[in-house]
Amino acid sequence: MNRGSAGAYILVTGAGGGFGRALVTALADIPVPVAAFSRTPPPPGHGSDVVSLLWEATGDLGDFSLMDRNLSVLLETWGPPQIVVHNASVLHHRNSLWTEEEASVRDTFRINLETPLFWVSRIVPSMIQAGGGGHIFLSSSVGREPRKNWGSYAISKAGIETLSANLALELPPPLFSLTLNPGPVMTRMREKAYPGKDPARPRSPGEAARIFARFLLYLREEGVGRKYNGRMMDLDTLVLEGGYA
Ligand SMILES: NC(=O)c1ccc[n+]([C@@H]2O[C@H](COP(=O)([O-])OP(=O)(O)OC[C@H]3O[C@@H](n4cnc5c(N)ncnc54)[C@H](OP(=O)(O)O)[C@@H]3O)[C@@H](O)[C@H]2O)c1
Repeated sequence: MNRGSAGAYILVTGAGGGFGRALVTALADIPVPVAAFSRTPPPPGHGSDVVSLLWEATGDLGDFSLMDRNLSVLLETWGPPQIVVHNASVLHHRNSLWTEEEASVRDTFRINLETPLFWVSRIVPSMIQAGGGGHIFLSSSVGREPRKNWGSYAISKAGIETLSANLALELPPPLFSLTLNPGPVMTRMREKAYPGKDPARPRSPGEAARIFARFLLYLREEGVGRKYNGRMMDLDTLVLEGGYA
């Protein structure tokens, strides 16, 4: 039981693959303690044998009853995380809005928007009690400016920007909330978005994750996170202006 103190670990959702799994590995290399939530068990060499992995839970993030139980165990055992990285997302549809199937819209809003809000509702009270903690929501260019044919995904990412901005207004210091646009990263989602030919030169998940992990390390320093409260960050800016390359 560790109810009262702010945990020193970072919680990552969508840690089964793509950017999320690369982030767990990058944090392990530093090393920073991590709790990882994934739908599919990680591949050998990237799971419970990662030394700094405090806790790994598997399950569908859309199953709120299961997640509620998982989060209860996590909070009871380790206390609240120092930072939550709300990374898990789905991209189902690349076409006009009026052609998207209802099931895909429902799943997109459930995983990309309702899930982070649910996690906020479960975790923020413990963070307030502990006197610290931050939330980082993975966003996207299409959530910050309108672009055609990105379906409900774009709307969900615009929603995550609003969620973070409102949360930032409501959180008492030193708690904080910000969004991060990772830019193009060569993952399954990127391949789905641009099958065949990619108009950009995406970073590898490992490179993107190492940049972000160094920024997370900085955010863990006392009082730093609040300086970024309400900010809309992106990985390119971290490289160009922050020296996190
Ligand atoms: N890649 C890019 O170029 C790019 C650009 C802008 C923004 N982003 C954002 O960056 C973040 C990471 O994206 P990515 O490229 O790494 O995507 P990805 O390769 O598709 O990985 C998404 C992760 O989310 C997990 N996930 C999806 N639905 C889930 C569910 N119901 N329950 C539990 N886990 C679930 C997936 O688990 P499974 O492995 O089990 O499917 C996977 O681990 C996302 O928020 C994305 O919107 C990415």
